[in-house]
Amino acid sequence: MNELPDHVARNRVQWDRWANEYEEAGRRNWAAAEPSWGIWSVRESQVMMFPAEVAGVDAIELGCGTAYVSAWLARRGARPVGIDNSEAQLATAKRLQRDFGLEFPLLHGNAEQVPFPDDSFDLAIAEYGASIWCDPYLWIPEAARLLRPGGRLIFLVNGALLMLCAPDEQDIPAGDRLLRPYFGMHRFEWSDDDSVEFHLPHGEMIALLRRSGFEVEALTEIRPPDGSTTRYPYVTLEWAQSWPCEEVWKARRR
Ligand SMILES: C[S@@+](CC[C@H](N)C(=O)[O-])C[C@H]1O[C@@H](n2cnc3c(N)ncnc32)[C@H](O)[C@@H]1O
Repeated sequence: MNELPDHVARNRVQWDRWANEYEEAGRRNWAAAEPSWGIWSVRESQVMMFPAEVAGVDAIELGCGTAYVSAWLARRGARPVGIDNSEAQLATAKRLQRDFGLEFPLLHGNAEQVPFPDDSFDLAIAEYGASIWCDPYLWIPEAARLLRPGGRLIFLVNGALLMLCAPDEQDIPAGDRLLRPYFGMHRFEWSDDDSVEFHLPHGEMIALLRRSGFEVEALTEIRPPDGSTTRYPYVTLEWAQSWPCEEVWKARRR
C-alpha cells in the first residue's frame, strides 16, 4: 500500500467505500443483452464502443469495476481479463460472475502497471475506469505496451467541456460558465470526497496518444437521446444535449 502513488492509494480507499453503491447498476448491466454506455446508458448502436469483430480477441479492461464490459466482451467470443484497484469492486464482479455463470480472470492491481508481458492483448478498453482514475501519462503508455501492433485502445471519459464547467461540489450540476483553465488541466480533486481524477485537453490527449505509439482513429462525443435519465447529479440532460458531457476515444497501436 505504501508503494502506491498517492492518487492510487486514495482512489483505492474511495472505491472500496463506494463499491456497494455500484452493485445494483453492475447487476443490471450484466443482465443486459445489449451494451449501453456511460451515465445516460446510451445504446451501443449510437456509441459503437466495441470494434466490429471481437470474437477470438484477447482483451483487457483497465479499471473493470463490476466487469460488465468484460462480460459483454466474453459473450461476444472475446477472451477478457479485468484489472481493478478495488478489492471490494472485484468482490462484486466475482459474485456477478458466479450468478451469471460466466468466468474470466480478474486481477487486483493498478492499471498504470499491469503484470502482463508486452504485446499480450488486441484490445484495451475502459469505461470510466483507468481512463479517468489513472494518470494518463502513465496508463496510456502502459496500454500501448500491453497491446500488439494493430491492437485497439478504446476508452470513455467525461467530456473536456464538462470538466471546465463542473463545480468543485459534485452534487451541483455543471452550468454554462467555464470555471477553470483549459490549458494545463490534468489532475482533479473535489471538495466532497478524497478521490483523484485526471482529464486532459484534447490537443494534449492526441499528442500523448501519438507519442505513446497510437494513431487516433475517432473521438465520438456522446449526445444522449431525448428522455435519457441518469442517477448522477453533476450534469442535466439539457446540458448534455447542448455540449458533450461524455466522449469516446479510439486509437490503434502502430
Ligand atoms: C466507475 S468504475 C468503472 C468500471 C465499470 N465500467 C463499472 O462501471 O463498473 C471505476 C473503477 O476504476 C477503478 N480504478 C480506479 N483507479 C484504478 C487504478 N489505478 N487501476 C485500476 N483500476 C482503478 C475503481 O476501483 C473502479 O472500480
